Amino acid sequence: MGLLPPQAVASESKPAPRRAWWKEAVVYQVYPRSFKDTNGDGIGDLRGILSKLDYLESLGVDVLWLCPIFKSPNADNGYDISDYRDVMTEFGRMEDFDELLAGLEARGIRVLLDLVPNHSSDEHPWFVESRQSKQGPYRDYYFWRPPREGREPNNWRSLFAGPAWELDPATGEYYLHLFAKKQPDLNWDNPRVRREIYDVMRFWLDKGIGGWRIDVVPFLSKRPGLPDCPPGADLGRCYANGPRLHDYLQEMNREVLSRYDAVAVGEGIGLTSEDGPAFVDEGRRELDMIYHFDHLTLDREPSDFSTMRPFSLPEFKAVFSRWDRALGEAGWGSVLLGNHDFPRMVSRFGNDSRFRVESAKLLATLLLTMRGTPYVYQGDELGMTNSVFESVEEFDDISTRTAYAERLARGGDVAEFLRKQNRTSRDHARTPFPWDDSENAGFTTGRPWLKLNPNHREINARAQQADPDSPLAHFRRAVRLRRQHRVLVYGSYEDLAPQHPAVFAYSRRGEGDALLVTLNFASVVTRFELPAGLATAELLLGNYPPPGPEPPERLRLRPYEARVYRLANRRPPGARPTR
Ligand code: NOJ
Ligand code: CA
Repeated sequence: MGLLPPQAVASESKPAPRRAWWKEAVVYQVYPRSFKDTNGDGIGDLRGILSKLDYLESLGVDVLWLCPIFKSPNADNGYDISDYRDVMTEFGRMEDFDELLAGLEARGIRVLLDLVPNHSSDEHPWFVESRQSKQGPYRDYYFWRPPREGREPNNWRSLFAGPAWELDPATGEYYLHLFAKKQPDLNWDNPRVRREIYDVMRFWLDKGIGGWRIDVVPFLSKRPGLPDCPPGADLGRCYANGPRLHDYLQEMNREVLSRYDAVAVGEGIGLTSEDGPAFVDEGRRELDMIYHFDHLTLDREPSDFSTMRPFSLPEFKAVFSRWDRALGEAGWGSVLLGNHDFPRMVSRFGNDSRFRVESAKLLATLLLTMRGTPYVYQGDELGMTNSVFESVEEFDDISTRTAYAERLARGGDVAEFLRKQNRTSRDHARTPFPWDDSENAGFTTGRPWLKLNPNHREINARAQQADPDSPLAHFRRAVRLRRQHRVLVYGSYEDLAPQHPAVFAYSRRGEGDALLVTLNFASVVTRFELPAGLATAELLLGNYPPPGPEPPERLRLRPYEARVYRLANRRPPGARPTR
């Protein structure tokens, strides 16, 4: 057969990327409101996270990203901050945060906090001052404009539906809000605003956090004169990449980030892969990572985010390859298949009925073997699915509620609205974490702030902890595999069959190692032939019992089967056999 021992695998042609702790890390994202409640008010809290440190440690993750924990009236569940230096009343007190940070640190887990610098709450003292008068010292912290011909100053629309401007009676001017009315946009062209945010960043970094996830980074610089968006434009594109954006990010890096051993990951709304390198190329000294939405928006109509469209596996795979090429060796990617803003990964990219368990494991395998830092969203390790919302009132999400109000005003079809939101709403990701099969899933002793997913009796952490074949057990194995094989961090990535309609097969090479990942995205058995010259060797991870004997180049993959192999090193033609 001419198979060489694995240690003889030689495949590095490119220089290895620079080492960094955050490249080697697995990030776990917690939505604190839905993680664990300890005082019976139905809302998750910091002491709840503290009570689950054993669970977090058992996952093997290195970093916890906490969605915003700051004082907030919660119009958008913490993405509307009224005090950047204090903890949200519902979540606890600063002492609880300090204890949580220390508890995590003792287990080797760093904390990423969620910085929301593009907008504050309208209840933030800056805005309260700002709206008083046209002359006050805080007026220029936000975007105020007089009416244009008796209407909004431009045609911008909020990403949560409706106009992006609100008329304020105090001064007869409009203020800008790219999100909800209660989230006025901060004016980053004002150096005082930038300094305020840098101070906030330092305040928390000085406490010892590991870094920041930064909300809607591409919107920080607005185009001068706030010109209209072209008709039908993608709003994210229209607001992203203003002319001073990279100056501001370099300033932020110089003033804050470079002074700490901190990581910064930006939410890359409105970016294409061509825009990516400008944010993360190491030489530019801006951010360390950004995450994009190219694969997370594939199933939506570009003109209407609540309307689904079909997409193919080759389209999905192409996104990973395109971003991998774009970021190359100088930048670094982030790998995610969902977060608190999207429905559950298994309901979108897997099969949430017959093959839920298999496909949840397959998607976890993808997350943990793709090139880039993996971000795992809470509950995805259990294979949580989308929920069922029986009426519009059962939704909490402000974007669902504003879209509904708009729909009602236009006299639209409410039943159709409900049907669409049952596929697309952000609340699918926000249902409380199912700890066990009791009435409130062990999440709370009170009434949960958002309806539990009715399937929590079947899908919950306790049941999976006791089951070596559970998605949770597979997730932990995949995390361990990533730890054992540095090639999964620093190795190159190559899609071996970009056009295959059902199988995602890729290699990871480098670090003296070469692995093959094969993922069957179909609910039927699929045969897959490896490209010429490649053959499988040892099976390192799978989500089914090991396959029976089969040729090392021709695989028969069961529905949603995922396998990770060490690649055999075949002798190049003409080479002499080694002993
Ligand atoms: C992105 C956040 O992830 C989302 O939850 C929030 O609604 C918007 N930014 C506005 O802050
Ligand atoms: Ca609580």
